[in-house]
Amino acid sequence: MCAPTRHIHAPLHGVNGGSPDRRGRAGATVPDEWYPPPGPREDASRAVPTVVDDTDRRSAPERGRGSDVNSHRLPRTVVPSRYDIRLEPDLDTATYTGEEAVQVEVRDEVNEVQLNAVELSFTRVEAEGPDGTRLEGAASLDPATDRVHLRFPRALHPGEWTLRLGFCGTLNDQLHGFYRSSFKDAEGRTHVMAATQFEAVDARRAFPCWDEPALKAVFGVTLVVPDGYTAISNSAPIREEPAGPARRAVTFGDTIRMSTYLVAFIVGELESTEPVMVGKTPLRVWCVQGKRHLAAYARTAGAFCLDFFEHYYGIPYPGDKLDLLAIPDFAAGAMENFGAITFRETALLVDEGAASHGELERIADVVAHEIAHMWFGDLVTMAWWNGIWLNEAFATFMEMLAVDAWKPEWQRWVSFGVSRAAAMGVDGLHASRPIEYDVRAPRDCEAMFDLLTYEKGASVLRMLEQHIGPDTFREGVRLYLRWHEYENAETTDLWKALGEASGQPIPEVMDGWVFHPGYPLVGVRAEGSRLHLTQRRFTYLGDPAPGSADEPVQLWRVPVTVRASIAGQPVERKLLLAAAEDDLALPGPPEWVVANAGGHGFYRVAYEPALLDRLASNLGALAPIERFGLVSDTFAQAQAGDLSAEGFLDLTARFRDETDRNVWAVVVGALAYVNRAIDDDARESLEAFVRDRARPAALRLGWDPRPGENELTRQLRGDLLRALGVLGDDPEIQAEARERYARYRADEHAVEPNVLPAVIATLARAGGEAEYAEFLERFRHARSPQEEQRYLYALTGFRQAELLNQTLQRTLDGEIRSQDAPFVVRAVLVSVWGRALAWEFIKGHWETMRRIFPPSGFRRMFDGISALVRPEWEAEVRAFFPAHGIELGGKILDQYLEQLRVGVRFREREAARIAAYLGRVVREMPTR
Ligand code: BES
Ligand code: ZN
Repeated sequence: MCAPTRHIHAPLHGVNGGSPDRRGRAGATVPDEWYPPPGPREDASRAVPTVVDDTDRRSAPERGRGSDVNSHRLPRTVVPSRYDIRLEPDLDTATYTGEEAVQVEVRDEVNEVQLNAVELSFTRVEAEGPDGTRLEGAASLDPATDRVHLRFPRALHPGEWTLRLGFCGTLNDQLHGFYRSSFKDAEGRTHVMAATQFEAVDARRAFPCWDEPALKAVFGVTLVVPDGYTAISNSAPIREEPAGPARRAVTFGDTIRMSTYLVAFIVGELESTEPVMVGKTPLRVWCVQGKRHLAAYARTAGAFCLDFFEHYYGIPYPGDKLDLLAIPDFAAGAMENFGAITFRETALLVDEGAASHGELERIADVVAHEIAHMWFGDLVTMAWWNGIWLNEAFATFMEMLAVDAWKPEWQRWVSFGVSRAAAMGVDGLHASRPIEYDVRAPRDCEAMFDLLTYEKGASVLRMLEQHIGPDTFREGVRLYLRWHEYENAETTDLWKALGEASGQPIPEVMDGWVFHPGYPLVGVRAEGSRLHLTQRRFTYLGDPAPGSADEPVQLWRVPVTVRASIAGQPVERKLLLAAAEDDLALPGPPEWVVANAGGHGFYRVAYEPALLDRLASNLGALAPIERFGLVSDTFAQAQAGDLSAEGFLDLTARFRDETDRNVWAVVVGALAYVNRAIDDDARESLEAFVRDRARPAALRLGWDPRPGENELTRQLRGDLLRALGVLGDDPEIQAEARERYARYRADEHAVEPNVLPAVIATLARAGGEAEYAEFLERFRHARSPQEEQRYLYALTGFRQAELLNQTLQRTLDGEIRSQDAPFVVRAVLVSVWGRALAWEFIKGHWETMRRIFPPSGFRRMFDGISALVRPEWEAEVRAFFPAHGIELGGKILDQYLEQLRVGVRFREREAARIAAYLGRVVREMPTR
């Protein structure tokens, strides 16, 4: 009934790894073992110069086909305006059948229509003309271009035609396209459901379509499902009819005019919260049966955000309902399908009373981010994938604004500093790329979902917002949305709208940040009552990359905000540093100077030694984000070899009284980086050093919450205990953790929710087989997604090779979901106890991983290779990728390899000196 459709060319094998990817939380500066595990981040006509990489990145067969540089863009001779799609999934056989009527405009006479389709079989191809002519056609698939060619016996003359297609496909297990997910109920019975994930280029796997963001259309969807199953799509259901034995056909209202990557179908045994009305929109949270009690928090967050964005954007939500759905198997963190946002369970469902601050913040973030997309991304969409930053950077920026408005006490813009620093970690590499970057092949689309798009993008938007003022910025955003609603736009369109609102030439300031890689290191020297400022590109490896076109003259327009203390009074000055150097006059000689006041600037600061010293002696005068910047910038310069590692380690002594968790995160993250660089025999000294730095703050906070204490303090307590128990190998903390865990087993309220994850991580670090067995059992029977994650990642925190190997093995035998498996391998890869064996494991099991991990996972897994900082490992890693034909898309692999190089060089330069320094310092420490 569903015979395979003929292929024009044989399918291409080999390269795998196009990886849609959540933005990472880590960069060269802040290793992310100190963050909660992730859920486990052109047109020829364009007016603005883009840095175009002119190497031909098409696959060999494509290059063989001549000069068709646009083989990834469909011809515009036939374009769709409306799809009516009817799908009937069969969950038992994991297949589905589909019918589709597409209204198209034929612009030039054609015998052949080309659209996208992958791994589909065609059962019917027909075209109906404006005058009622009917033509029967034939379909042939071209796997090399992801296309289907529909050939007709006669030409289709210009006008409005309807294509009628019949097709079928499989519900795959790869978490993209139309795929199968499963879950176990309380009785242990397995249930199967189906869901979709189309961004960036996988709608073509579910139904034949013009799968490019600029080819917007209206979608009318019907899903035929078994009784007892819920069907969800982008709009509210408008009709249900019986459709065969124990099945019904659910028809949904027309969608807005939108891009294919935003279409969604979800079919399963689901339950939902009561709807909450936000203006005219009912909002619901959906999950598999038995989990509704975990949905209240997201419902509240979602309702707040929907209302917040309607006001911010000044445009009512353009859909007829908004569903937030938790999907048990989900590769990314969440996806902004219009009206039907999908999430991995950890990003939506939570037991609020048992969750840590970080876990709650993550849910608020993801919910805010995806709802922000309903306008920015869904209503107005980038014209092509090179502009994906418009979507993602903006949603990330709005995520902060909304969460900050919802919970001002969380100080979300301060914790955003961690993300900014992570982006600087990548953007300080020669292998960085401009935020907006040429994209051709699908794999390169997927490679765009990285720290540069999300976090650098959001950082430069924040910098601009602060530069022109928040109200003006919002006004520009409103104009942009109104001008382009239901259509597509480019970066230049956003600049035009912001320019209109501000009366300022936006491209002049912004193009350097968006269309060029890298960021400046701003040098600061005091000369009497003048400050001398300089700028040059910051890179970890120093000298410009050979042949790099941007070096050495690249300059930015840097909005510099300076705060100085002059005769005991604070003075603030702003300056747009446009030249390589400039002077800033102050009313008198400064006692100290902060050269990125407020921390909004996407640049690092290099203070002359005397200024650095005076700043470090006046930390009390700095805001948390400014202290964060001081630590982050200083460590980056130590990584680059511009400052000594000992100098950095000395500086950390000033932070014993630190009260901000983000500042602690950057301090502890740097010490974890050092821990990976040193030899094993220096580790004990480093552990003692960690205890020396973090103990006073931890002792001050104690183990138990105090009345009236805020959420951030509680989270800080958890972070510090974890740093001591794990990185500091602190026996007292470990003993107390054991004690507390025993109490927790008797009474689950005995340990504060922010402290519990630290207790678990500490026991993994200090424990053995008994703890492993306990955590494995708890992972298997977890009562919330957060609990499941904690115990899962605890299984990566042991020291014993035998136990870590068991964990690695579980990523392949189906016990650990494929959505989590690559992250679990990565976690072992960045552990000093696990990295050697995780690397062996990858080498030994790569072919299996390639088969069973979702393609989106490889990038996240290989991100961990930068922890392999030994020259022997580095050589192996470099050889591994070409030997196996692994490509990660864009510049991702080059970035990982360069980060590894930075680490190996740091080790070669510093390891011995650090060991000697630590030995000295530790000998002088009071024993305790
Ligand atoms: N649009 C993305 C999700 C996506 C991108 C899926 C590329 C597949 C390929 C979504 O809006 C997103 O950014 N999700 C993030 C979470 C967000 C809070 C940063 C993610 O999935 O990590
Ligand atoms: Zn997004």
